[in-house]
Amino acid sequence: MEKAIIGGTGVYEIGKSSQQEIKTEYGRVIVDIAKINGEEIAFLARHGKGHSVPPHLINYRANMRALRDLGIKYIYATCAVGSCNESFVPSDVVVLKDFIDFTKVRPLTFYEGSKNGVAHVTMDAPYCPNLRETFFKCAQKTGLQIKGHAVYVSTEGPRFETAHEIKMYKMLGGDVVGMTNVPEVVLAKELGMCYQAVGIITNWCTGIKGDVIDHDIKGIMEKNKALVTETFILALNSEKLSQYACKCKASLLKL
Ligand code: HPA
Repeated sequence: MEKAIIGGTGVYEIGKSSQQEIKTEYGRVIVDIAKINGEEIAFLARHGKGHSVPPHLINYRANMRALRDLGIKYIYATCAVGSCNESFVPSDVVVLKDFIDFTKVRPLTFYEGSKNGVAHVTMDAPYCPNLRETFFKCAQKTGLQIKGHAVYVSTEGPRFETAHEIKMYKMLGGDVVGMTNVPEVVLAKELGMCYQAVGIITNWCTGIKGDVIDHDIKGIMEKNKALVTETFILALNSEKLSQYACKCKASLLKL
């Protein structure tokens, strides 16, 4: 099986599927396997079913290792994000093009010396350009409106940010803020998988407009999730998917 979807906040399933437990050296992972148009697609709920794991405690390494062990090459992921860019308003959908990492205490790599050795992964294209272009094309077919490309700021969470933190992120070029995309995207790359995340804007970030708490985060995710997932499935069924169309598979520098 080569294709997977990772569902973030509010996206916990993709329909009729069977469950598979995958044991990795980092822990066990439950993955749903759905058969769509005759092809198996893996689905992973990032926070667990029923949103039981907070962002800083997600076992990112187990999740990504499990997908790799299944044979996955292509991953689309959703993430709920706040916006600090006035052009992207709550309910908009954006496609991530780069990130700035402000996480603090998470395991960030599979390469911690000893048996796995030391390696450095390149970050000139953290998100797969081919998956991104395919997603844009498929969105035109499904009618999903994409507001643009966004730079994602990854915070440690689980708390929201202060107004001055948001001011700083904005000055650094951040467009949207979330708590989960790092290290997920980094680990996908270390394992040579193509990965593209799509942000669903659930709120204005702290200090931008109004209060974070006043937004209907669950409602916004509910409204957008079906069309985003439909677009993922169309993109994953696309004949254009090939690891020869990008450099994701060859971005690890081993020492
Ligand atoms: N900040 C961090 N993470 C988030 C936000 C936010 O405003 N909204 C959704 N996830």
